[in-house]
Amino acid sequence: MNDKPVNDKLAVAIHAAKYVENGMLVGLGTGSTANYFIEELARRQREEGLTVTTIASSNISMIKAQSLGLNVIALAQVAEIDLYIDGADEITPDMTLLKGRGYDLVLEKLLAKAANQFIVVADKSKLVDRIGTHYAIPIEVMPMAWKAVKRSLEKAGGVGDLRQNVAKDGLSISSHGSLVLDMAFDKSISEAALNHLINNTPGVVEHGIFLGLTSGVLIAGDGKIEERWQ
Ligand code: A5P
Repeated sequence: MNDKPVNDKLAVAIHAAKYVENGMLVGLGTGSTANYFIEELARRQREEGLTVTTIASSNISMIKAQSLGLNVIALAQVAEIDLYIDGADEITPDMTLLKGRGYDLVLEKLLAKAANQFIVVADKSKLVDRIGTHYAIPIEVMPMAWKAVKRSLEKAGGVGDLRQNVAKDGLSISSHGSLVLDMAFDKSISEAALNHLINNTPGVVEHGIFLGLTSGVLIAGDGKIEERWQ
């Protein structure tokens, strides 16, 4: 009998890697689930002879992918990618996502938009009824504009502040060079309205609500993987 605990993030990442076909340009996500996916992709390249080119959603994922022998190209070289696989922080029933607990949501959203297929991999702890259930909305802002953006969003009922670094002795800076405002909003504001509001606030570089970008989600829980498609 095997009493080893099931690693849901590993299981779903391995499952997702089966969607990668020879010759594909594949977007690599950021986070612990995406890390397992990168490792599995590298294993398939090494052991199965899979030929694949990748594009990373963060510096940390680029470094990991390169260290495992994957060919990583720059976003500036392409307008379109075949498949993007990444984790998420929250997933609603209509597959709206909250992303950006890491610092790289600008690239993450660019890849999600550029991908012919965007598949989200997660364990079931990420399922929520609405965005903002567990986390505030990460909003990357131009450093010079953070006060103006904060004030605009406060007028719409937003509450929050600049994200600090892990040591709490400075501010978080995204890979893109932005500051990050983490703002919570009243539950009565719909995700679509919030998406519209933040998109239309000058000084915002990008934000963590991913609306209408997801092709499918793979959810792992209790040793099983459930696939949901749009
Ligand atoms: C990174 O900015 C996020 O969007 C991640 O996709 C998210 O934090 C998922 O991370 P885990 O796979 O570690 O839960």
